[in-house]
Amino acid sequence: MKEVVKVSSLTKIYGDRVKVGPISLTIRENEVFGLVGPNGSGKTTTLRAVLGLLRPTSGEVKVFGLSPFAVPQKVNHRIGYSPEIPVFPPFFSAEKLLKTTCVMKGITGKAADQQVKQILELTGLVNHSHRKVGNFSKGMIQRLSIGQALVGDPPLLVLDEPMLGVDPVGRAHIRDVLVELKKQGKTILFSSHELYEVERLSDRIGMIYLGRTVLEEDVGKLRTSKKAVAVTLSRPVEKILLSALQEIEGVSEIIADGTTLKITWEGNMDPREKIAEKIVASGRGLLEMRMVERSLEDIFIAKVKEGVDG
Ligand SMILES: Nc1ncnc2c1ncn2[C@@H]1O[C@H](COP(=O)(O)OP(=O)(O)OP(=O)(O)O)[C@@H](O)[C@H]1O
Ligand SMILES: [Mg+2]
Repeated sequence: MKEVVKVSSLTKIYGDRVKVGPISLTIRENEVFGLVGPNGSGKTTTLRAVLGLLRPTSGEVKVFGLSPFAVPQKVNHRIGYSPEIPVFPPFFSAEKLLKTTCVMKGITGKAADQQVKQILELTGLVNHSHRKVGNFSKGMIQRLSIGQALVGDPPLLVLDEPMLGVDPVGRAHIRDVLVELKKQGKTILFSSHELYEVERLSDRIGMIYLGRTVLEEDVGKLRTSKKAVAVTLSRPVEKILLSALQEIEGVSEIIADGTTLKITWEGNMDPREKIAEKIVASGRGLLEMRMVERSLEDIFIAKVKEGVDG
């Protein structure tokens, strides 16, 4: 599949202290790519470099095979951008804002009217098109910002935290909009802290930690590369049992919380029988053991802890 965005060993040094990167990512045509990472890990920096708004200290950015710095006129109109904190003139209506954006992009007359209508429909803002943006909810603002990115029908959308501050119902609404855009053939690169949404929406995920990419993976593979069980004990777990469980071959991670444990393992050895043995030997009853999927959140927390420990 065609590569739409390629970020290779991007670094950015702010002042003489903060260093972001090296970050490397590849986003393919019609892919939804979710970029995750703790606050300050470099998501916005990466997205702004892809847009050509921020010049990296080193490394390379290619969008549709071209440098957004060397030939901005050939790249800019092919990218739609929704910034981390969208700010709109509060007295503008949604319709006026989109029409003004059309004018800025050289779209006028009937073409502009048609495009604004389509965008309002797609983003679910038709019934609010004449309302002042200053009265919009956060969810509506985010949808309007995505709508603004759609003006000019660019094939690549770069969305920096499109669900920031939005309630679950609003998030579901934004998710539906993004799913529809993927169906229309768009390539979507977005960042988010909403790991559940990222997991549901993305074809692939990039995780930045300590300023560098630690992972770039298909969502399906991410889930199946490790297996996990949730275990319920009759009495709370304690240190001796935890160390005994950690010694079992293949076990890579244990998250303990009172009487419940989440035990993850890697490789082909199935440790479940040994887990049961050790629990019973500790004098505890094994009330339940069931296979669970590792969520993106589990993987994220494990990676962050690895970074802190290592
Ligand atoms: N203009 C700037 N001047 C100085 N430092 C900056 C600037 N922009 C970003 N940084 C620093 O670079 C690092 C990466 O910031 P960035 O905004 O890319 O992170 P992020 O992953 O988007 O974080 P968040 O999840 O909070 O949005 C942070 O340490 C931040 O403080
Ligand atoms: Mg950011």
